[in-house]
Amino acid sequence: MRALLFLWGALSLISSALCLFDGLNWFSSGSKQIGRRSDDVELHINDNDLENVLNNKKYSLIYFYSDTCGYCDRFNPDFGYIAQLYNGGNGSDSFQVLKSNGKKNKRLIQLFGITHYPTLKIVNFETKEIFTFDAERTVQSIVEFISHYTGTEPDYSNFESPIKKLDDENYEDFINGASSSSSSSSSSSSTSAKVIVFAASFTRAWENSHYPQHFFQKFPQQFPQVEFAFVNAEHSNTTALQRYLRVANFPSIVKIDTKTGAISTFQTNSQNFATNDKLTRDQCLTFITGALEEGVKKYASLEALQDAAANSAEKYEIPQGWGMQVVPKGNSAEDLSLEEEYEELMYGDEL
Ligand SMILES: *[C@@H]1O[C@H](CO)[C@@H](O)[C@H](O)[C@H]1NC(C)=O
Ligand SMILES: *[C@@H]1O[C@H](CO)[C@@H](O)[C@H](O)[C@H]1NC(C)=O
Repeated sequence: MRALLFLWGALSLISSALCLFDGLNWFSSGSKQIGRRSDDVELHINDNDLENVLNNKKYSLIYFYSDTCGYCDRFNPDFGYIAQLYNGGNGSDSFQVLKSNGKKNKRLIQLFGITHYPTLKIVNFETKEIFTFDAERTVQSIVEFISHYTGTEPDYSNFESPIKKLDDENYEDFINGASSSSSSSSSSSSTSAKVIVFAASFTRAWENSHYPQHFFQKFPQQFPQVEFAFVNAEHSNTTALQRYLRVANFPSIVKIDTKTGAISTFQTNSQNFATNDKLTRDQCLTFITGALEEGVKKYASLEALQDAAANSAEKYEIPQGWGMQVVPKGNSAEDLSLEEEYEELMYGDEL
């Protein structure tokens, strides 16, 4: 209670100070325009615009972070997504998501009693009540926290990925559809290439590829002539597609030239996701623009790719159910490596 009163008193003080400043036309008065585009849904709150920003909505969730905190780094993608769900679109009438750099906003830190980062608090600006999030920091539990204290639900339609998800049911349409010249879609005529990334939710650099802030989600804007798709290699309903394009390692990237039908592929080296290389943003960019040389294989057509795989000395191993655990022939249960045993334990597939 004392803390609440303290906050209330402090806010009133600040508020009278703001009135002074307002009189001097220091602050633009009234409510700040809330950002709508995915790039500006992350609204900041600082010591000097504290009341102005909190006054916009009855409830605010504030994420207190520090630039040097590893847990914050790990949480940032989730936070970006949460900001998109609540601040994106038309936003909510009574709730907003904010972030504050604790190292630069001592007054906020004091007011909210922040002792460590990351910390998430909800403030009811009408009653000056503050609620602290203390569950496991997942998107789902934060959504529940917000719902419980503010009655606000997320708007999942605020983020529609420009990247198509492929599985065994829709890949043929995606791969073959628009490249035939008689295709009906008018957008197909401006498409020069299709790019497909194969990864799993836990492959390094690709864990958050479904979030708006991930580099992959920004590629369609950067390359309007390219259609992008993602294949979640851990889903069993993508194995036919993996086989079709002869992809056995993850993450991998495949580009199909829609004019010529030529295909280039870049597969990371290891067949074991635990030791696999990562596919970085820069590698993707150089691959898409055709500048990546090392590790890239080129084929004149899909048939050429499939033939090459069939005749290859290092024979293509057909992914079985779970694409990542393609085990070299001759292995029996007795001579599994530790990693393979681990995978078997984890995923229970017969090897
Ligand atoms: C968002 O606001 C616009 C303009 O006021 C309105 O036309 C649209 O229906 C609103 N969308 C939602 C989901 O409320
Ligand atoms: C493929 O599997 C994923 C995950 O289980 C699922 O979300 C998706 O709807 C499935 N696709 C089809 C066409 O069944």
